[in-house]
Amino acid sequence: MKTEILEFSDSSLIIAAKIIHNGGLVAFPTETVYGLGANAYDVEAVKSIYVAKGRPSDNPLIVHVYNNQMIEQIAYVDERAKKIIQAFMPGSLTIVLPKKECIPMEVTAHLETVAIRMPKSLQARRFIEACQTPIAAPSANTSSRPSPTNAVTVYEDMQGRIPLILKGEDSVVGIESTVLDCAHNKAVILRPGVVTATDIQSKTGVDVCYLPDNADLSKVNSPGLRYKHYAPQCPMLLNIDGDISKVKEKIQQLNLIGKKVVVITENKHLVDFSIENVIDLGKDIETISNRLFSCLRIAEKQADVIIAIFTDTSEKAKGVNNRILKSCGGNLI
Ligand code: TXA
Ligand code: MG
Repeated sequence: MKTEILEFSDSSLIIAAKIIHNGGLVAFPTETVYGLGANAYDVEAVKSIYVAKGRPSDNPLIVHVYNNQMIEQIAYVDERAKKIIQAFMPGSLTIVLPKKECIPMEVTAHLETVAIRMPKSLQARRFIEACQTPIAAPSANTSSRPSPTNAVTVYEDMQGRIPLILKGEDSVVGIESTVLDCAHNKAVILRPGVVTATDIQSKTGVDVCYLPDNADLSKVNSPGLRYKHYAPQCPMLLNIDGDISKVKEKIQQLNLIGKKVVVITENKHLVDFSIENVIDLGKDIETISNRLFSCLRIAEKQADVIIAIFTDTSEKAKGVNNRILKSCGGNLI
């Protein structure tokens, strides 16, 4: 299959909507990461998402909508959920609610709940609106790879597997949405993102907690958490205590056995390394989040081993910490 990249425009939207209606897949921009969309009501189209990504079939998809009416069409919305939707949608938050019959089990991987997101990105909402149907969409990367934040990266992974990539703006947030489970008694953040528990609590009064670090993932209602994620093509190590002498020692050891190391670090440690093998993630958490996945994809092209340094333990940094820890497969130095 030939994969076309079309600039986001009124005319490319018409072509995209046609492909979606004929059961095809379209990659599209959102403010978090690029998505790989299919008509959520079309079982065969939804199944082809799993094939294109090489995604395990028990990992459910997020359904993207462009207005509140579409949410009511696909899920049961109680008072608590209403408050959260009112405060955070459109935005970079996904809410998990009891699903209605119309959403096929292939979308939710046989769960009785559905994850719903109304993107903040106007381009994303225009795409969904043009399709006039809820859009099931995971991130547009091949399974286990860092998520794409621009159209060129989508092409790297999806070339030959999908008919169309809508080339819109680069993703500003850079990591995927916060996933909030609102289908059970306690509201729980299953995947941290730019919207924090404190944000939700202070804006809505709803009591929200994070999934504890030691949660038994076989019992958690989000199969996606169990899989390998965001991994670069070479081994990666992570330092979280900012002990630069330890990092330098590791680099020396690796160099001695002929391995080229690329360091990706928050800006404050940049001065400690020679300029040609270090990549700056940025100063503030918004910049770091925006650059993380694209820096991983740049680093893997140059390195035998990547060493990341990220020391921010604040609540706002939870999303980046979660992704970077998974990228390195838990290999800390
Ligand atoms: O920002 C985002 O959320 C991006 C853009 C494209 O919208 N999408 C995204 O989708 O990250 P994906 O498929 O890469 O991640 C979806 C996550 C997975 O961890 C999955 O397990 C979880 O959402 N999820 C989906 N449906 C669920 C459900 N019914 N209950 C619990 N977790 C669910
Ligand atoms: Mg993903």
